[in-house]
Amino acid sequence: MTHWSLLGRRVLAVGDSLAPLARGALFGAVVDVADPDRLLELRPEQAELVLIDGDACEAAALMVGLAALAAMPQPPPTLLLGAHLPAGLARALMRLPCSDVLESPFESEQLQQAIFGLLDRTEEQAHPIGSHVSRCWSVVGAVGGAGATTIAIEIASMLAAQTAKERGVCLVDLNLADGSAAAYLGVTGQMSVAQLGPVAERLDAALLAAFAVPAAKGLDLLACPRDPLAFDQISREAVLRVLEIACETYDHVIVDMPRHRRSWSLEVLAGSDEVLVVSELTVPALLAARAFSEEVERALPGSPRPRIVLNRLASRLFGPAPSTAEAEKALERKADGAISSDWDAAAASANLGGPIRQHRPKSKIVRDVQGLVERLLARAPLQTTRAA
Ligand SMILES: Nc1ncnc2c1ncn2[C@@H]1O[C@H](COP(=O)(O)OP(=O)(O)O)[C@@H](O)[C@H]1O
Ligand SMILES: [Mg+2]
Repeated sequence: MTHWSLLGRRVLAVGDSLAPLARGALFGAVVDVADPDRLLELRPEQAELVLIDGDACEAAALMVGLAALAAMPQPPPTLLLGAHLPAGLARALMRLPCSDVLESPFESEQLQQAIFGLLDRTEEQAHPIGSHVSRCWSVVGAVGGAGATTIAIEIASMLAAQTAKERGVCLVDLNLADGSAAAYLGVTGQMSVAQLGPVAERLDAALLAAFAVPAAKGLDLLACPRDPLAFDQISREAVLRVLEIACETYDHVIVDMPRHRRSWSLEVLAGSDEVLVVSELTVPALLAARAFSEEVERALPGSPRPRIVLNRLASRLFGPAPSTAEAEKALERKADGAISSDWDAAAASANLGGPIRQHRPKSKIVRDVQGLVERLLARAPLQTTRAA
């Protein structure tokens, strides 16, 4: 998915009944509530999205309004809401290049999904295949210390090594208060709460570049400097907007996700092409990985199933750690990746600052992450987004 937020977007809401959405599903957008006549004089720059309450407006007036929209050179995407929509209205809607219908009553999340889907489709139509391909993978640890940050960094640096582009890969550390990706990479996060807040609404690729730190060739890092209050001070809309612009700018966006649920967590996971849950080989971690995956599957039934990555696999001649087969039994599913244990390489890279593949290129961790990335790339559907 390319769209995650409506922050700063201009939305024309046709029907007074839609006004409360400005404080709900459309929060952050610039919402203009009007009656159907407004569609007759709409100019392209006035609305990036049109929402219509088909039940609240007179059908004949709406049909005339929709015909006027269809006559515009590039009509904005239009979403019709309602429970009892006349067939004529649906036909008028079908003359628009990008439109959808959502049956009421609906939940706020359903409305947002319908809107983001519509915005994605509109952009695909405007910029056909090949303009810009972007993938977003989120990495989350089942328990603290499982290795999520380590694996997110290795995946990002592996992808960066494969790209010739300057802005090929972006690692986004969403552990806003005390993320460790910057320290592991030996750089300082530049996405300060005080600076991001005021510009979030008009964030674009150029502004985002001011917050990104080059961490390696082809790899930029978006991370906050340490700030215990950051989670409370960065709005949900700002977080989603950062991801949206990152996906428009970079070919790959890797997200180091916090384990604990935030107001934006489910949206981030729903917008990710892959969700990787990193577990270590202990029973509590495996049970937590299973529970986390099940929670995400329940909350996001239409999204791809999270993939489980077992980390710090040791060759098990002796010792009490579960085997991969035992781990998969506890998980009640197959693991999608397994990364060997190599404390020496992990510690060397963390202490020197930089990815393991830079300091210990022969480490088994590097080899295993490469296998994981290759499998994910082979499976990942390409997404077309706006041309960079
Ligand atoms: N495959 C591995 N082999 C050895 N040590 C690892 C491995 N993966 C991670 N580590 C180490 O485990 C510790 C926790 O890793 P980290 O990535 O910070 O976990 P998380 O982000 O899930 O809290 C770090 O010291 C890291 O160097
Ligand atoms: Mg971490």
